[in-house]
Amino acid sequence: MTDYKPHSESFSKAFERADDNPSNPTQNPTIGDVINTRFKRRQVLKGALGVSAITGLMAASPVAMRALSRSAEASESKTATTADRFNFSEVTAGVDETHHVADGYDADILIRWGDPVLPGAPAFDPANQSADAQEQQFGYNNDFIGFVPLDGNPEHGLLWVNHEYTNAELMFPGHGGYDKEFNNATQDLADIEMAAHGGSIIEIKKENGKWQVVKDSKYARRITTRSTEMLLSGPAAGHKRMKTSADASGSTVIGMLNNCAGGVTPWGTILSGEENFHGYFGGELSEDHPEYANYKRYGAPGGWYAWSKFHDRFDINKEPREANRFGWIVEIDPMDPASKPIKRTALGRLKHEGASPILNKDGRVVVYMGDDQRFDYVYKFISSNAYDAADPAANRNLLDDGVLYVARFNDDGSVNWLPLVYGQGPLTADNGFSSQADVLIETRRAADLLGATPMDRPEDVEPNPQTNKIYVMLTNNSKRKADKVDAANPRGPNPNGHIIEITPPENDHGAATANWDILALCGSPEKDGATFSEATTENGWFADPDNCAFDSKGRLWIATDGNNDKDTGRSDGVWAMETDGELRGTGKHFFRCPVGAELCGPWFSPDDTALFVAVQHPADGGEDWSAFGRKSTYDDPATRWPDFDPAMPPRPSVMVISKKDGGSIG
Ligand code: FEO
Ligand code: CA
Ligand code: CA
Repeated sequence: MTDYKPHSESFSKAFERADDNPSNPTQNPTIGDVINTRFKRRQVLKGALGVSAITGLMAASPVAMRALSRSAEASESKTATTADRFNFSEVTAGVDETHHVADGYDADILIRWGDPVLPGAPAFDPANQSADAQEQQFGYNNDFIGFVPLDGNPEHGLLWVNHEYTNAELMFPGHGGYDKEFNNATQDLADIEMAAHGGSIIEIKKENGKWQVVKDSKYARRITTRSTEMLLSGPAAGHKRMKTSADASGSTVIGMLNNCAGGVTPWGTILSGEENFHGYFGGELSEDHPEYANYKRYGAPGGWYAWSKFHDRFDINKEPREANRFGWIVEIDPMDPASKPIKRTALGRLKHEGASPILNKDGRVVVYMGDDQRFDYVYKFISSNAYDAADPAANRNLLDDGVLYVARFNDDGSVNWLPLVYGQGPLTADNGFSSQADVLIETRRAADLLGATPMDRPEDVEPNPQTNKIYVMLTNNSKRKADKVDAANPRGPNPNGHIIEITPPENDHGAATANWDILALCGSPEKDGATFSEATTENGWFADPDNCAFDSKGRLWIATDGNNDKDTGRSDGVWAMETDGELRGTGKHFFRCPVGAELCGPWFSPDDTALFVAVQHPADGGEDWSAFGRKSTYDDPATRWPDFDPAMPPRPSVMVISKKDGGSIG
């Protein structure tokens, strides 16, 4: 058991704190000592920032120094600005009960928790919920959003939405949150929660200038943890460590867990990352458990939910291998509602934030991924075979065959991509690996042995299709000690996060090396030593970068998770960010969430006229907002966004942002 208590605080706080308990025992080659010796603090001070801004910056590297001096140059040449690539007026940073979008834009609700998804779904009745109803309705805590156009139409398509997790205290009347021993858990509640996890597919269309959900669509689908049968494929499928009493084949599983971010493949399928899967398992992990070392490295069982009281498969003592069947990237075909989602084991088992595919210039598919926990790693997968646009059938199982790599960020600004291949280097029987299946089931332990660089919580890792540069959102790491900083993670502690830019050589995502640079150290430039450009206004800086998206012009848009009244005086939201020229590192505030919510899944329509955003866990917390100052619950929420109806609880919702004149966003 980890030492956090999801029952006594807001649930998303508990998630954050869970990530706060690093389960990486090695905290591998931190090179902070080396850097500290080579680059004295004094040199950093000389480098760029004002003295007050440097507080908290404990070390620097040539790369960090470059970022810092660039920021200084930007401030010196403030008058000689290059053109701002973003043409909108910023929203004011702050916290209140509702959302805000830049002037000249509309932000409309597209679909909310409980709204009908399947034809004939019952109307949402929050006081009388059931698992069967929830299986037909939009699930809780919308996260990743992927849009797949129908017939190439940018104004008509299928929207995939992940439902990452549930907040009992905000979902159920009179509940208030689980107590420590789950005495107030029932099977009915557990089953509703399982039905509210997973994903939704809805058909959407723009009509008379407004996006609508197409009712009774033949594509409409709910995928849930409770009932959706999925396949396991790739090297770990069928392995004895994947077999359970319900599945002697080791190749089928019911449901997926904690699906956070994801991506859309060139062949139009969805990739969805199972993140904090460990939290759903209960029982006791003792040293004689057959998966002891494995589960320990993932923090399983986390015991965040009571499901194991009612369903044996979530009890690691009753069903010792079930947890090996979670923590994967799931591929879903949105065009075929009867298709079984497939867990692609070749992409590794970790706390997958997301999966961002790009076609390499040689036609192979490269998928970038982050493992979201303090001191965990950045990965990429490279398919063995090339994508063939003319042969859809040949692409179907492209993600079953390839090589998974983990990143080592060197202090000289280079990256090494280290292959996780059974039999190579330390990945042998000497270290307990007997096959590639073992390497993949214990991806983290394999990556530890290779000497990957422990990062400050990698969330989205997204390639910019226009420039081929890759952006790594490192959300924060309160546990990094000042003497454990390194060039790529230069602050200890790092409560505000930072963003790394990776440049592959000659635009080759298949290369074994790359270069890296810091785009921005986040937080307040004045208080936290953040390195936003001097052109950034008081509204334009942010902390806790999480998800991100590129529009078709290749401009970067960042969504955050962790800003609040107490820490940064602002809600989470969307910020645009300059990546090139003199304005590199300039943030600009575009959209702001209601209190308690994080912003997930930003995704542009193909013509950039719509930006879809997922407002997740509105009203969560409450204690951090001085105007409310107490724990938020179903009966006493910090906001009733988006309905503001006394009979309705706050509802996670997907919104569509569009320009009033119908033009391109930003
Ligand atoms: Fe589900 Fe890493 O956020
Ligand atoms: Ca996230
Ligand atoms: Ca997050």
